[in-house]
Amino acid sequence: MNCKELNKAREYEIISEERIPNEERAYFHLTPRTGWMNDPNGFSYYGGKYHLFYQYYPYDTSWGPMHWGHACTEDFIKWEHLPAALAPDQDYDANGCWSGSGISLKDGRHALIYTGMLENKQTGEVKQTQCLAIGDGIDYTKFDNNPVIDETMLPKGASKEDFRDPKVWYDEEEQQYYLVVGNRTEDGSGAVLLFQSEDMKNWKYTTTLDRSNNEYGKMWECPDFFSLGDTHVLLVSPQEMRAKGREFHNGNNSMCILGNYDNSTHKFIRKSIQSVDQGLDFYAPQTLEATDGRRIMIGWMQSWESCRNQPHGNHFFGTMSVPRELSIENGKILQWPVRELENYRANHVNYNDVIFKDEMQLYGIKGRVLDMVIDLDMPLATAEDVVSIKLARDEENETLIQYNPQSGLLRFDRSNCGFNCDIVNVREVDTTPHNLKLRILLDRYSVEIFVNQGERVLTSTFYTPDLATEIAFAATSETRMTIDKWDIVGC
Ligand code: FRU
Repeated sequence: MNCKELNKAREYEIISEERIPNEERAYFHLTPRTGWMNDPNGFSYYGGKYHLFYQYYPYDTSWGPMHWGHACTEDFIKWEHLPAALAPDQDYDANGCWSGSGISLKDGRHALIYTGMLENKQTGEVKQTQCLAIGDGIDYTKFDNNPVIDETMLPKGASKEDFRDPKVWYDEEEQQYYLVVGNRTEDGSGAVLLFQSEDMKNWKYTTTLDRSNNEYGKMWECPDFFSLGDTHVLLVSPQEMRAKGREFHNGNNSMCILGNYDNSTHKFIRKSIQSVDQGLDFYAPQTLEATDGRRIMIGWMQSWESCRNQPHGNHFFGTMSVPRELSIENGKILQWPVRELENYRANHVNYNDVIFKDEMQLYGIKGRVLDMVIDLDMPLATAEDVVSIKLARDEENETLIQYNPQSGLLRFDRSNCGFNCDIVNVREVDTTPHNLKLRILLDRYSVEIFVNQGERVLTSTFYTPDLATEIAFAATSETRMTIDKWDIVGC
């Protein structure tokens, strides 16, 4: 095994990590050790810890030949960086070790399954295959007989160019490994293929679980498939999607398909579709089942569209979302920050039933690293009335949340948050009229807004200087608000 590329990356990341000032990093969200980060990979429990790998290019703050960065945690909040786990150093992954997943094996070892990316620069021919690496939580060795799944195992009409991002699990009852992988069918649009294996090494195609039929975007990237209560959830991240009302926007989305799955026939029947996150920066989520049974999801807190416009002079790029607990209620998927975050809450400030109109600030309600719960009531609101929450504010900047209580429309606007380029800054979502509960997580350069019980989430980054710590409230008609705010400390 040629470890030259990996050793080079490992040496480089130690030297470069030290050059990144702490204030540039998110405080309680995972950022890469150095360089560039995209998708979460290999999110799995192994050796008493939760491991998270990620798409990683250590040598620059832009995307390049993909490595796998590596971190671990015991509580999803406090992360420990580990040395890079994979580098593109074989003939089948020479252009990158692309996204994939991880699983603990019965024999005590940790397996990673990822996409080997190979591109013939002369002919432009692309081949994506699925490859295996086995390790001990620090060092991973690529399997001698890689790739373990290649184009010869694909069903008729499936693409060998767009064939990536395997997510693996083990079915105890059947004593079988299964994986879902993204693909494109003959109509050029996305599909999720199911494969099975007894030993992680020999795989066979089982079925196609679902497909876009050109209705929900083109390539379906980064699939995940799991049960939640008595429903089955298929997550995909479609590319080149056309907007659908306020549920999906143009371009890359993350999508959740709820349905029924029959283990014996491997048929998945789609019941409903919803957006996973309706903010500006969330993509390629991956989940694991925690040791206590919770289904936890984490996503890349960025978007492919806006990541080309990074702030100047930054030393790294990319952040993960807060890990989120998933549940299902009334046929909808709900997301909530992992409960462990509450262990890091300090300096509680509370105001009950504050009545306000026009603009105001509240003593103690400010900051850029915080967790805040807000309950808003506008009993007398008319169609034109709006209540605004202004975050990360100073004389020049603000990041806006606006709510229209009559229609229930919630608007997020980062137009004045420090960007100097022409990117999308506004998203609107439909929520409940009259009363709104928000949980807002701010972490220096990002905001995650959980609406009501987590039935909608809006995640976005912004680049406002971190001295802009004011939070203000404004309303056009009398509004009642209860607010609880904590700083997040001790990470
Ligand atoms: C999703 C994605 C994956 C691919 C990886 C490459 O963001 O395009 O489909 O494996 O990123 O970095």
